Amino acid sequence: MDYKKRMEEIAAELLKHQHLYYVQARPEISDKAYDRLFDELANLEKRFPQYASINSPIRRVGSDLDNTFPEKTHGVPVLSLDKLYHPEELGQWLLKTAAAAASNIGFTIEEKIDGASIVLYYDRGELQYALTRGNGLLGNDVSANVRTISQVPLRIAESSPLAVRGEIYITRPDFECFNSGMAEKYANPRNLAAGSLRNLKSALTAKVPLNIFVYEGFFQNESIPDHLDILQRLAQLGFRVNPRLGFFSDDDAKRLQARRMFPAITAAPLASVQEYLRRQAATRRELPYDIDGLVVKVVEMNIRQELGTTAHHPRWAMAYKFDSPQGRTILLDIQVQIGRNGRVTPVALLKPVALSGSTVTRATLHNQDYINMLELGIGDEVSISKRGDVIPAVDDVLEKGDSHPSIYKIPEYCPFCSTPLVKEGAHHFCKNDTCPERRRRGLNYFCAKEQMDIEALGEKTIALLFAKGWVQSIPDIYSFDYAMLAGEEGFKEKKIARIRAGVASSKTRPFARVLAALGLDGVASAAANALIAHGFDSMDKIIAAAKKNDWEIFAAIEGIGETTGRLLVGHFSKPENLQLISSLKEMGLKFATEEKAAPRINNAFAGQIWVITGSLAKFIPRSLAAAEIEKRGGRVLENVSTRTTHLLRGANPGSKLARAEKNHVKIISENDFLRLLRKK
Ligand code: IVH
Repeated sequence: MDYKKRMEEIAAELLKHQHLYYVQARPEISDKAYDRLFDELANLEKRFPQYASINSPIRRVGSDLDNTFPEKTHGVPVLSLDKLYHPEELGQWLLKTAAAAASNIGFTIEEKIDGASIVLYYDRGELQYALTRGNGLLGNDVSANVRTISQVPLRIAESSPLAVRGEIYITRPDFECFNSGMAEKYANPRNLAAGSLRNLKSALTAKVPLNIFVYEGFFQNESIPDHLDILQRLAQLGFRVNPRLGFFSDDDAKRLQARRMFPAITAAPLASVQEYLRRQAATRRELPYDIDGLVVKVVEMNIRQELGTTAHHPRWAMAYKFDSPQGRTILLDIQVQIGRNGRVTPVALLKPVALSGSTVTRATLHNQDYINMLELGIGDEVSISKRGDVIPAVDDVLEKGDSHPSIYKIPEYCPFCSTPLVKEGAHHFCKNDTCPERRRRGLNYFCAKEQMDIEALGEKTIALLFAKGWVQSIPDIYSFDYAMLAGEEGFKEKKIARIRAGVASSKTRPFARVLAALGLDGVASAAANALIAHGFDSMDKIIAAAKKNDWEIFAAIEGIGETTGRLLVGHFSKPENLQLISSLKEMGLKFATEEKAAPRINNAFAGQIWVITGSLAKFIPRSLAAAEIEKRGGRVLENVSTRTTHLLRGANPGSKLARAEKNHVKIISENDFLRLLRKK
């Protein structure tokens, strides 16, 4: 058998059916028949990888190998659009443009799809590569991800070079559905579409229901005189062209022709443009996808040529944007912040701009993925808004500056300790526990209101103490002689006394606060409280479990789970942490909850030693059950031993159950326990 030929045949057949299914929505063969062909080709490609084409339909499912997104030069100028915000302004622009043209002019009005911009490059009938817009000159090669989008034709019946511009988007219902299953949620469909184009693994992109609409075509060996002809050609080649199209001209023949080519088109004289814009704006929420405006374009290519372009946008097109940006400003720089746990957060330093009642100078950029998604570089003009009306966010690039690189990259090394940064999930981390910045941030966290609440030790004072080398670690807060601050500006006697008093009174904070204030990864106040509620009411008990490497005992606690369970074992077996804890203990901080002896009801459980395992239905937290036992003269211990007499067994018991069975301990269900409590 000629395998090469057979593979080509199946590939062509599959691409045809993919197009019928995903673009035309009128499949001709059953899913089963399709799958059979698909499997046959997949098997042949495994046997004869040398015959597999880059545009094999198998590419639609993507790959698990890590993508790279090298920068590539655009073969056509990828211009942006000038924009206006009011239909009247657009009406004026239209009249001015029509007057400037020598002949009768026509305009299309297209929806401005709010997704991710893409340029598809074809040659010899094959998709060669696909680039993001980037800075307009260079884009990122995201071909492997784009090939997974079933609506993107991989082969076309056009052998000359062709570049096609379009927008990748996801519908709102698909977004809601897909996003609900994601660990890290996307703020809107646009961010998900743009993020998906930059997935490291194309197999992940293949799972996202992405769509494309194309809106410009550059046929290299042909000059097509009219934008409508180009759109029609693109549709004939198998591209998805948005059928919601308006055509406006005072030339009756041109309107007639437009209706012949696109039966669904709205064709009307120029005078009705403003009304059309208003109606589209008013009904945009009825669409299943987001549009952020409309695009008005001259259709005649010769008039486009006459009008020309600026470096940034064509003079023959104009965007009518529905919402003016809340604020616009320049991204001056990006600061790399390192948190106490080493997580890197890039922060935008913005040219100060007034926005709903305050001046905005900074906004978080979350992580490298967010920056990539926006294709954001220093010097760009950006739009900003206040999310939830408080936290400023960078929403979009309005105009690229000409910085290099055009997309900002988080540095490879920690700016504070020069340790190489490591990427884990979406974030970069400084993994150096002794990084000075991490330690300084750790001190801030310890003293903050939510933790030890040492009000007099604010960020500024800590920065000073840290820079002087006086307070480098948490125990230093308690051992430093604050009299030494007397020579410093702003530290009069009163202020120093306030610091001393604040530090002293922080020693009365309860164990839960102290535990959380240590700032250990995964041990914030919720976890600290959960531990204590489940019987880990002293540091000694926690350390004892950690020493035994018993992460499961932690993991069984509701709200802790395996990840934190393992972290706890790690934290509390680390010598430096144990050292820290013992120093702080010596200084008088609380490392156990204060015992409040429960009033005795009777002595029904006297002499008994109980252990509790699993989760209880009635006694939440578990310490409530322990209290009932103690009120009846029994004792409750953490672990099963030869002295244990009773095991209270909840749902999903841990390893304690097996140990109890081995030691012939009486095993009591929660219902039996309730019955015992009722007995006098
Ligand atoms: S035309 C020179 N048409 O809007 C042609 N753009 O700021 C310029 N967009 O990068 C683009 N729908 O990502 C055009 N029907 C449409 C569009 C559209 C969405 C996006 C595109 C472009 C941005 C312009």
